[in-house]
Amino acid sequence: MNLKDLYISFFESKGHKQIPSAPVVPENDPSVLFNTAGMQPLIPYLMGQKHPYGTRLCDYQKCIRTNDLENIGDTYHHTFFEMLGNWSLGDYFKKEAISWSFEFLTEVLHIPVEKLAVTVFAGNDIIPKDTESIEIWKSLGISEDRICKTSDDNFWIAGETGPCGPDSEMFYWRSEDEVPQKFDPEDERWVEIWNDVFMQYNKKEDKTVVELPHKNVDTGMGVERTTAILEGVNDNYMSSIWKDVIELIEHISNLKYEGHEKSMRIIADHMRTAVFILADNAGIKPSNTDQGYILRRLIRRAIRHAKKLNIDINSNFEEEIALLIIKKYEKYYQELSENKNVVIEALKNEKIKFNRTLEKGLKEFEKISNKITDNKLNKDDAFKLYDTYGFPIELTEELARERNIEVDVAGFYEKFKAHQELSRTASAGKFKGGLAGNSEIETRYHTATHLLNAALKVVVDKNIHQRGSNITDERMRFDFNCDHKLTDEEKMKVEQLVNEWINASLPVRCDEMNKEDAVKSGAECMFIEKYPDVVTVYSIGNDEYGVVSKELCGGPHVKNTNELGKFKIKKEEASSAGVRRIKAVLE
Ligand code: ALA
Repeated sequence: MNLKDLYISFFESKGHKQIPSAPVVPENDPSVLFNTAGMQPLIPYLMGQKHPYGTRLCDYQKCIRTNDLENIGDTYHHTFFEMLGNWSLGDYFKKEAISWSFEFLTEVLHIPVEKLAVTVFAGNDIIPKDTESIEIWKSLGISEDRICKTSDDNFWIAGETGPCGPDSEMFYWRSEDEVPQKFDPEDERWVEIWNDVFMQYNKKEDKTVVELPHKNVDTGMGVERTTAILEGVNDNYMSSIWKDVIELIEHISNLKYEGHEKSMRIIADHMRTAVFILADNAGIKPSNTDQGYILRRLIRRAIRHAKKLNIDINSNFEEEIALLIIKKYEKYYQELSENKNVVIEALKNEKIKFNRTLEKGLKEFEKISNKITDNKLNKDDAFKLYDTYGFPIELTEELARERNIEVDVAGFYEKFKAHQELSRTASAGKFKGGLAGNSEIETRYHTATHLLNAALKVVVDKNIHQRGSNITDERMRFDFNCDHKLTDEEKMKVEQLVNEWINASLPVRCDEMNKEDAVKSGAECMFIEKYPDVVTVYSIGNDEYGVVSKELCGGPHVKNTNELGKFKIKKEEASSAGVRRIKAVLE
């Protein structure tokens, strides 16, 4: 059994329910681009909301941290990683959490006690020293010498505000050297493997700390690091998680890992993260903003390092690597196989786009750097590399660093902003009339969208679900999963059915209900996590027709389908792999 399976079955044996990993793109937390820790999707429950699975949870969570992208290339940093966690939501507290951590490490993973050490919270002005945890560790057989008390490093919070508390971190002696009697967390041979956070406070905007309604436990163990430790390797990329990916890159490039570690690690790491972002149901594609920009940077940086290894960029190297990564993880994350084609296609498209200008851009960079006399690359050149050759500023910086050149990044951003303002004004003009407005006509399209969604299920396939929607006051656009181009007959039948429901003057009902009840009642919903606890459900139907459509939705909608007019499909086309798009109008 591998680490993830061992962890889950251990905590199941202690009464925990496994919860599925949340998507990498948070669905209800606009404050972060990606989930950075296992606790992130659980914040509402740590704050006191009831969790449908109970008070003891465990999982493995996909996490992405891109703040230290520049560190990728060393032996242990990764932009994507999996975090194992177990939680108590007002259930058990320090005694059970620490004892189970100890039991798992020593009895399931068979780590000798001699190689373990821990840190605990030393206390500060507001919160007292965590003597309880110290006593628990001692009772389990951790000697006083191996318990280090700190204040700054033993208080955990995800960002500036939110649920938080003192923690206790567990360290493993990762070295052939003899284990010292006394634990020194500054000695890098001790590596942190697990963190138990005793989350009993909420830090508010005004920096004050208040007690949470109940005391929670939040823990986090990094899969990559712990796997490397268990397998006795000092380079994470030599563990079973990465070894075959590195071997594939060696094979593709016809080079040895030794001597090319940095580029190979960057390719392996960035490709894995890109695969997970692309496979996420949020449908992120490479772009110049937010998650899409991070994705673009990761893919382009991987391609640039592939070029450094003389990999033929026109080969299918990116597909080969992505397929291996998908194969390795699909058992745990089904979206990988479901969205395999989307992932491969998006990687290829971005590669082709970047490759068109990469060669010329690199030449341009050479030219610019050769003419530089003061070791400074100016904002105009940085912007040209971005705008004309598609070099993310970070790539220019990386190339420049390799030659000891400094880039005027602040100047670049000034130019970038000015450019953005211009294009924003242009597109605002183009979309005048609004994408997100709630005009009467848009309300009608909104209701028609629900009917179309329902009709596709009846006529084409009951497993069809919405993948996206966009409404203007001139038309509606609806994306849905479907493995084939709709036949003329299917289109006609869908159109007929929607019009039949319109002509039947079906009332549209809005009910407020608890989210769980809504889902149980079979209401259609695109992203369940996106909704608050109490939701509105729109049902369309009458006694004769029954309920033809039922969806979780914020509205607004018309009161009766007879307000809609005649529904007509204008176009049916591919949107992306496995996703079709219908454009339709109400006449
Ligand atoms: N949330 C804690 C961490 O990320 C467990 O370390």
